[in-house]
Amino acid sequence: MDKNAMKKMAAERSVDYVEDNMILGLGTGSTVVYMVEALAKRVKAENLHLTCVCTSIRTAEQATSLGIPVKALNEVDHIDLTIDGADEVDDNFQGIKGGGAAHLFEKLVATTSTRNIWIVDEEKVVDTIGRFPLPVEVIPFGSQQVFNKFVKEGLNPEFRTTEDGQRVLTDSKNEVIDLHLEKITHPHLLATWLSEQVGVVEHGLFLDLVNEVVVGSPEGVKILKA
Ligand code: A5P
Repeated sequence: MDKNAMKKMAAERSVDYVEDNMILGLGTGSTVVYMVEALAKRVKAENLHLTCVCTSIRTAEQATSLGIPVKALNEVDHIDLTIDGADEVDDNFQGIKGGGAAHLFEKLVATTSTRNIWIVDEEKVVDTIGRFPLPVEVIPFGSQQVFNKFVKEGLNPEFRTTEDGQRVLTDSKNEVIDLHLEKITHPHLLATWLSEQVGVVEHGLFLDLVNEVVVGSPEGVKILKA
């Protein structure tokens, strides 16, 4: 089955979790695009009153264009539920995010949210995370020094670049270094080490954060509960 069909299936199911008057976090990525489309249909059909906090400029633009009311994270006092994509998730519900360079805002929204749901296609459910390169957002000043440190630690870093060779910049105008690790056997230790490095703004390890994973698969939608 086509990967996009699995993403769409998971995305469409996830909007069943949305209730009237919720403050909702909206993630970022190609799966979230399907979710926002499905959400907009429900908002219209059921006249739902929602407040949505978006994790990227592109999600905010999509939501606004479809008539979904959007507020900044600073304007809300809590978030009831956040629905987001992920790049990988393991059996212990530890995950990697940031393939779309939005993991800083995504983590801020996720850690504010009472519940977090991820929507993925089944290829993203893995035994051990790490095959997907781990995104690390770094400030541009001195980013080469942070990169060199990652090399020294054997973390196989690579600056993320656009097709024309420019460094990718996040919505906060920071750079992204992807770590090619293949397997992350001790995610908590790595997360702590990365957070201690000067110049690192945020990494894409999302540990102990997700409550349910909605998985699209050729056999239909599967719900994994943490
Ligand atoms: C954005 O930075 C990411 O965390 C995305 O949520 C993640 O990369 C999943 O993206 P797709 O839904 O496009 O696969």
